Amino acid sequence: MKVITVKNQLEGAKVGFDLLKEAMDNGAKTLGLATGSTPVEFYNQIVKSDLDFSDMTSVNLDEYVGLDGADEQSYHYFMNKHLFNEKPFKENFLPNGKASDLEAEAKAYDQIIAEHPIDFQILGIGQNGHIGFNEPGTSFGETTHVVDLQESTIKANARFFKNEEDVPRKAISMGIASIMTAKAIVLMAYGESKAEAIKGMVEGEITEAMPASILQKHADVVVIADEAAVALL
Ligand code: GLP
Repeated sequence: MKVITVKNQLEGAKVGFDLLKEAMDNGAKTLGLATGSTPVEFYNQIVKSDLDFSDMTSVNLDEYVGLDGADEQSYHYFMNKHLFNEKPFKENFLPNGKASDLEAEAKAYDQIIAEHPIDFQILGIGQNGHIGFNEPGTSFGETTHVVDLQESTIKANARFFKNEEDVPRKAISMGIASIMTAKAIVLMAYGESKAEAIKGMVEGEITEAMPASILQKHADVVVIADEAAVALL
């Protein structure tokens, strides 16, 4: 795992963008994408660039159960707003949080991932070390599945909603086993609220209690983080 320390989110976004450009020069066609505040500036860099994505595919990590793309709090809406509306791809995949049969939706999503192997995966990290919505305790063997969000995640994500009660209690998320199949992974983290998780991920024991720690076993992971996020390393 390579850790690159940057001054702030803008510098991190530029470093991430250069890595993406290099991957695309080397033939990357499918991007694994993440939501949250962390990658927003990275998506701005893509939007501002003259890179052509019309031949690219994206596969997103997760979606809240019960929200569809028209809902402003959905991850689908977030992706449209920050990236897809501005930079058209060949195709964009996200789990359907409104699917009537969520188990079938999870299976179908695994099929999509199998048909579009991820060349370059962007990740953020939760304060409790979750990646995607794989909460502590999730088996490292999981593929796409329905998740009960933990209280701490509901609280952390409440800032995007009017009331904490509005935060969905469930999500559908790519599993850790799916994330680990990505050829290259770039994880970004900013701010002191991520410092514990970054320490656990980089230096801690590899344990399902700290989902991101599995990344120690991946051959090509770059962590882009600011001083506050790496303060405990
Ligand atoms: C959510 C998402 C994660 C993201 C995390 C951190 O839980 N499912 O993919 O990494 O939030 O969000 P932020 O970047 O806003 O700190």
